[in-house]
This record gives sequence, structure tokens and C-alpha cells, in this order.
Amino acid sequence: MRNKKPSNYAKTIAIDGPAASGKSTVGAKLAQELGYVFVDAGTLYRSVTRQALEEQVDIHDAQTVAEVARGISFSASMVADGTSQLRVNGKLVRDRPYDPQINMIVPVVAAHPEVRAVVREKQHLMARLGFIVCAGRDIGTVVMPDAELKIFIDASLDIRASRRLSGLLRNNFEVTLEAIRSELEQRDHMDSTRQASPMRPADDAIILNSDDMKIAAVLSAIKQHAKRE
Ligand code: C5P
Repeated sequence: MRNKKPSNYAKTIAIDGPAASGKSTVGAKLAQELGYVFVDAGTLYRSVTRQALEEQVDIHDAQTVAEVARGISFSASMVADGTSQLRVNGKLVRDRPYDPQINMIVPVVAAHPEVRAVVREKQHLMARLGFIVCAGRDIGTVVMPDAELKIFIDASLDIRASRRLSGLLRNNFEVTLEAIRSELEQRDHMDSTRQASPMRPADDAIILNSDDMKIAAVLSAIKQHAKRE
């Protein structure tokens, strides 16, 4: 744990954006550089989905899935090198494996307002001390409407699909560009058209289009916006 928090940066930072826009990668690096904790809301919704499937509940039954969510404990903490760790029911979450089944079900689970209310409460608990970077779809609009800095990272569907493909091929997944493209398109559509806190940039968010930017450039642009003195 770092012993000195930098005070000249925004203390609460929301990074929203569509699937595979790079927000989790950038958010984690930013948090590490600032000495903040990083929380990826996508991982929270994925964990709820995984648990609901494990308990074999009807994923269309909002109340029951919300109950499942209520029973999960999330805790975010920082380790010695400044990286953040998320624990789900005490168990460390490692790098997300590509799971097409979860990818298609998570937007259904995340569309239930009852589930979102439970997850939001848990996000508020993790964010209560500040010094946090949180990535998701509704962080700047609903979860942390008072965040000191709000960023919305965008990129075209083709660019996001090809970036995601390279990452998966590097990790030996057998998947095609077309399959990824269509999954991202479908997920974005569900996430942005749902009734309950749909994905959209907050009115006061800074929109970064990362089509022509590498991760390092996005990171440095956000850091620049986060500077307070
Ligand atoms: O960020 P990631 O792609 O891992 O998110 C997985 C899913 O979790 C999204 O497609 C969306 O359905 C849900 N999600 C959400 N609200 C957030 C973050 C993620 O609904 N703030």
C-alpha cells in the first residue's frame, strides 16, 4: 500500500464506454499511477451472472437475481505494487477469461433495475473513501454522478473488435473477428437501449475517441484532465 496519496488529481474518476473500448485497461493503469483503487463494474455484473447461473436461477426473474447479487460480497484493495485486486466472496478475481456464454447473458442480468440497485449499493460502499477509479457504463451518470472527473472512452466497432481479437489470439482463444464484432454490437445495443441506467456519456463527461490512440496516449490524456493544480 502506498503511504502518500497524491492530492493534486481528481479523487473520484468515472470512466465509461462501450464493450472493449479499453476502459478497464486504462482505468487499472490510471489507478495504479495515482495510487487509487480500481473497480471494474463489468466484473461485478459478470460475477452476479456467474453466480446466478451456478445457482440455476431464472435470469429473467429480477427479484431472484437481485437476491443472488445481495448475497455476494465484493471488496477492492490495493497490493504492494499499486495494482488493485477485487475479491468476490473473499476469492481473488484473476484476469477475465473470455466466456461467450457470460458475455451474452450479462446484459440481460444487468438490465434488471433491482439488480442494478443492489450492485450500486455495493459500488457506493467501495467508493466511500474516494481515491477511486471506477469503470463501467453508468458510473458518471448514476453510480458516481458527483465524480470529480468523468471520461467516456469511445472507439468504432471495427477497431474495438479487432483490438479484442488480437488480445484473445495472443491468449490462444479460437475465435473469429465476425463473432466478436457481432457479440460487441449486440451487447452495446442491449446496454444502451435498456430502461435502467443505459450506457451514455454524462452531460459533463469528456469524450475521448480512441480510434487513433494507443493505450498510453489515452492514459496520458486522462491524467492531464485529472490534474487539479
Ligand atoms: O465492461 P464489461 O464489458 O466487462 O461489462 C460487462 C457487462 O456488464 C456489460 O455488457 C453490461 O451489460 C454490464 N455493465 C453494466 N453497467 C456497468 C458496467 C457493466 O450494465 N456500469
